[in-house]
Amino acid sequence: MKIVITGASGLLGHKIVSELKDTDNEIVALYNRNKPPIEGRNIRWVSIDLEDLVRLQDLILKIRPNAIIHAGSYTDVDGCELNKRHAWKVNVEATRTIAKISKVVNSYLIYISTDYVFDGSKGRYSETDTPSPINYYGLTKLLGEEAIKSQDILYTIVRTSAIYGVGYGKVNFGKYIIEKLSRKESIKALKDQYVSPTLNTLLAKSIVELLEIRYPGTLHIAGERMSRYQFAKTVAERLGFDPSLVVEAYERDFKWVAPRPRDSSLDCGRARAILKVDFYSTDRAMEVLREEYRSLGS
Ligand SMILES: NC(=O)c1ccc[n+]([C@@H]2O[C@H](COP(=O)([O-])OP(=O)(O)OC[C@H]3O[C@@H](n4cnc5c(N)ncnc54)[C@H](OP(=O)(O)O)[C@@H]3O)[C@@H](O)[C@H]2O)c1
Repeated sequence: MKIVITGASGLLGHKIVSELKDTDNEIVALYNRNKPPIEGRNIRWVSIDLEDLVRLQDLILKIRPNAIIHAGSYTDVDGCELNKRHAWKVNVEATRTIAKISKVVNSYLIYISTDYVFDGSKGRYSETDTPSPINYYGLTKLLGEEAIKSQDILYTIVRTSAIYGVGYGKVNFGKYIIEKLSRKESIKALKDQYVSPTLNTLLAKSIVELLEIRYPGTLHIAGERMSRYQFAKTVAERLGFDPSLVVEAYERDFKWVAPRPRDSSLDCGRARAILKVDFYSTDRAMEVLREEYRSLGS
């Protein structure tokens, strides 16, 4: 299969590339500024700005992929609020272009979306719940979903939540916790914000499985529901740090530009019934995270 991956240098994207490295698939991995140190006989890295819609369109037309995994996005939630034009171009217009060109080249499209399409008043959101974003990032991701649905193509919209991972990739909540706790420094973690923390490695494996299954529609793929405080405690306990370094905090203590949903956790029953990969259990995620953390030191 010929597969184009956007955002291949991101926290999730580079793990998808790693999973597909040295398989029989031909991978065209798109990045913007940060080329990851992953090479394989089947991987071609191409730098492109997703704002350049003409080039994006030309590139995909030339490649004529069988599948596109669209993981590229402007993910800075406060940044989206402050720079709406850029957020619109990258998250909405580029996604619309990719959806249209998928139709032209008859490609299966996997679009990575977010729990932030929901307002957070209910939690445990299923695929049938109605989105109602409370910040601009969530709005642009939802409009990306709509752009995909409006095309007559085979697509899967994958909504996930609070991605974490160690090693390559931007600083994320998991990496931050580990860095601080390994230096015996305390961290503050929110007791009143609930998400479904998702390990990048397990999410990437699920997405690779989807390439075969080609589930038509929307799927929630994420970990178990917990507060950020519970997550930090769990990481501390399972990776052998001192859990008392995790200090409880509340949303009122933090100053964000964009409002955050209070409980954007996802119900993943549908994906758990469809996929073989255990992307869900905290036990499994912590086992993998511990191994990955240990291998960094070796
Ligand atoms: N992180 C989370 O907690 C979370 C939660 C729910 C859903 N999601 C969704 O999951 C997907 C992956 O997220 P992530 O955390 O892996 O993202 P990330 O680490 O922030 O990476 C974003 C990726 O998009 C690329 N990108 C950004 N702007 C670009 C532009 N103008 N042109 C070309 N490429 C551009 C980046 O390229 P360079 O690095 O090379 O510049 C990078 O590869 C996104 O669709 C996001 O909305 C993320």
